[in-house]
Amino acid sequence: MLFFSRLFATSAALTAFLLIATNEVVAIPSNVQIVQPEFELLYDATVTWPFNVTHFTTSGPFGVRALIGPTGGNLTNSSTGDVVGTIVPGVGGELGVVSTVNGRIYMKVTFAIQWTDDQHFAYFDTDGIGLFQTPQSSTGYLHVETDSPSKQSLQNNLLLLSIMVLGNAQTPGLNETVGYFRVYQKSSPDPIYVNSTST
Ligand SMILES: *[C@@H]1O[C@H](CO)[C@@H](O)[C@H](O)[C@H]1NC(C)=O
Ligand SMILES: *[C@@H]1O[C@H](CO)[C@@H](O)[C@H](O)[C@H]1NC(C)=O
Ligand SMILES: *[C@@H]1O[C@H](CO)[C@@H](O)[C@H](O)[C@H]1NC(C)=O
Ligand SMILES: *[C@@H]1O[C@H](CO)[C@@H](O)[C@H](O)[C@H]1NC(C)=O
Ligand SMILES: *[C@@H]1O[C@H](CO)[C@@H](O)[C@H](O)[C@H]1NC(C)=O
Repeated sequence: MLFFSRLFATSAALTAFLLIATNEVVAIPSNVQIVQPEFELLYDATVTWPFNVTHFTTSGPFGVRALIGPTGGNLTNSSTGDVVGTIVPGVGGELGVVSTVNGRIYMKVTFAIQWTDDQHFAYFDTDGIGLFQTPQSSTGYLHVETDSPSKQSLQNNLLLLSIMVLGNAQTPGLNETVGYFRVYQKSSPDPIYVNSTST
């Protein structure tokens, strides 16, 4: 029995060693550089929703589906605080599903934004994950579509959207629900292949 457990321990150690060795063999070669993503802050936003957003839901086969449309709001430049866009009321919103298994909301947040400077529109579409409680918070991958000539870089970069929606208990006296979100843009490079035979 003792012999068997020693043998087992030895073989477990050997397996661990082999796994480490295997990991070293399959490790990413030094000329493939995948850097940890870094993000810069672009926009701050305020968004308003109807009072008691939990009322705007329906239960389906995947869980509780949110059907919460925005009533207004705006986007500001995070460095200057200037208003750069408004959230078009009644278009899109939080259409995510709250899982019956883990209680997480698999967010599906869409907004139509009208830019202040040129009046063009933008479509914001975020898929992510978060908590559907009070207050609610979630973060996801945002993609933007817009024909505003000066905002084309939003379509060419990886964006994140982080949102918090306050409960009505956190905003006593207000007959609406208030949320805040921020938009970040990846500032670090995509994976890089370094051709060591060039230079
Ligand atoms: C915010 O304003 C600054 C100063 O005008 C500008 O350089 C920057 O591009 C603006 N940021 C965004 C996301 O529009
Ligand atoms: C909020 O909505 C839920 C679901 O419809 C309802 O049960 C609850 O009474 C509402 N709360 C308030 C304060 O209106
Ligand atoms: C931005 O939107 C919020 C919520 O609708 C509002 O309270 C605020 O006054 C707006 N700010 C500007 C500068 O329009
Ligand atoms: C709150 O707003 C709803 C419509 O959004 C309205 O029916 C209701 O009377 C308002 N309640 C108060 C206390 O202002
Ligand atoms: C590496 O660079 C050399 C010289 O510029 C070039 O001939 C070769 O095709 C490159 N190899 C790869 C895999 O990109």
